[in-house]
Amino acid sequence: MKRIVCETYDEMSQIGAYVFSEQIWRKPDSVLGFATGGTPAGMYRCLVKMYNDGLVDFSKVTTFNLDEYYPMSKSSSHSYDYFMWDNLFSKINVRRESVYLPNGGAADPEKACDDYERLLESRGGLDIQLLGIGNNGHIAFNEPADELRVRTYVAELTADTIEANSRFFESAADVPRRALTMGMGSIMSARRILMLIAGEKKAPAVKAMFSGRITPKFPASLLQLHPDAVVILDKDAASML
Ligand code: PGA
Repeated sequence: MKRIVCETYDEMSQIGAYVFSEQIWRKPDSVLGFATGGTPAGMYRCLVKMYNDGLVDFSKVTTFNLDEYYPMSKSSSHSYDYFMWDNLFSKINVRRESVYLPNGGAADPEKACDDYERLLESRGGLDIQLLGIGNNGHIAFNEPADELRVRTYVAELTADTIEANSRFFESAADVPRRALTMGMGSIMSARRILMLIAGEKKAPAVKAMFSGRITPKFPASLLQLHPDAVVILDKDAASML
């Protein structure tokens, strides 16, 4: 797992945008894995700017997102679908029919997970997956546990995550208790992984991730096994390394 330490959040975001752009330059029909949350918003702004400057073309890409709350309607401003359109997809030339997120409005969530996994496979898997990290070491909604799941599944959110995500809702009580999320195998099967981490609050998680030990109690530790994972951090996030 390589790491790049940047001076600032903006620098981290810009390098992240270059990594994704370079993937598209090399393979215009790349399958891109995106993530939601506070951290990637800056990288999405950089990608929009690069698109507006004529530097990158999204017309042939396919995109998959890591996760979506359940139950959640696409049109809700709390949905990850809404977040992605608002921050990125509506501002670039990606084709609507090439954008996929797990279906938070599905009547049968287990089937929606199986369908999502099949769709991902039918598109040849992920060329690159963007990730963030939770303070508790989660990636996507793979929360610390005695066992981790391999493929897309219906996850229960932990109290930590509900608390951390409550900043996007009126209150913690409004945060959905479940989500559809790629499993650890879906994520680890990506040919490349790019993780962005910013801020002092994440420093203990960063230290644990680079500890040289692997445990399901800290899901991000598994990334140490990935052959092509790059972590870009700002200097606050790297302060305990
Ligand atoms: P954040 O979320 O980017 O909003 O900190 C990261 C995560 O929980 O995976």
